[in-house]
Amino acid sequence: MERSFIMIKPDAVQRGLTGEIISRFVKKGYKLVAMKLMQISRELATMHYTEHQGKPFFESLMQYTTSAPVVAMVWEGKEVVATARMMIGDTNPLQAAPGSIRGTYGVDLGRNIIHGSDSLASAKREIALFFQPEEVLMYSLTLENWMYEQG
Ligand code: RTP
Ligand code: MG
Repeated sequence: MERSFIMIKPDAVQRGLTGEIISRFVKKGYKLVAMKLMQISRELATMHYTEHQGKPFFESLMQYTTSAPVVAMVWEGKEVVATARMMIGDTNPLQAAPGSIRGTYGVDLGRNIIHGSDSLASAKREIALFFQPEEVLMYSLTLENWMYEQG
């Protein structure tokens, strides 16, 4: 099963959207396998967004992501990496499809609610940055037979 690193950003935590966002992933049929509330360091934020180092928005991105607590999570399930990106929507909330998380809850590119891994390789790298291996749990849900044809 695929895993994706999903992070509820400081603006969404402050705005009380954590529960609604988690609920969307649960209702879709994905399984939460790791989660922590944390205020991330500049060092961790830099490693997480290393591909954007040197870009004009990098400094504001660092200030934003380290400004207050985030909820770091790992979600597991069928094709969760690409599907989570669709559920999250376009980077700019004004262009994100209505009904997507960013399309529903946001208006500003620099306050865009949530992060989701953009590939399987990114997911693996990001999960290892935020979690120790033993913090990512393996367990079964009794409802799995009702979400997957072969449980
Ligand atoms: P994320 O990594 O946070 O899930 O977002 P994303 O893949 O949709 O977008 P990405 O290109 O990776 O950009 C990372 C974050 O940087 C901020 N950003 N600002 N001012 C700008 O042009 C600009 N471009 C990106 C956004 O907060 C974006 O989520
Ligand atoms: Mg990205």
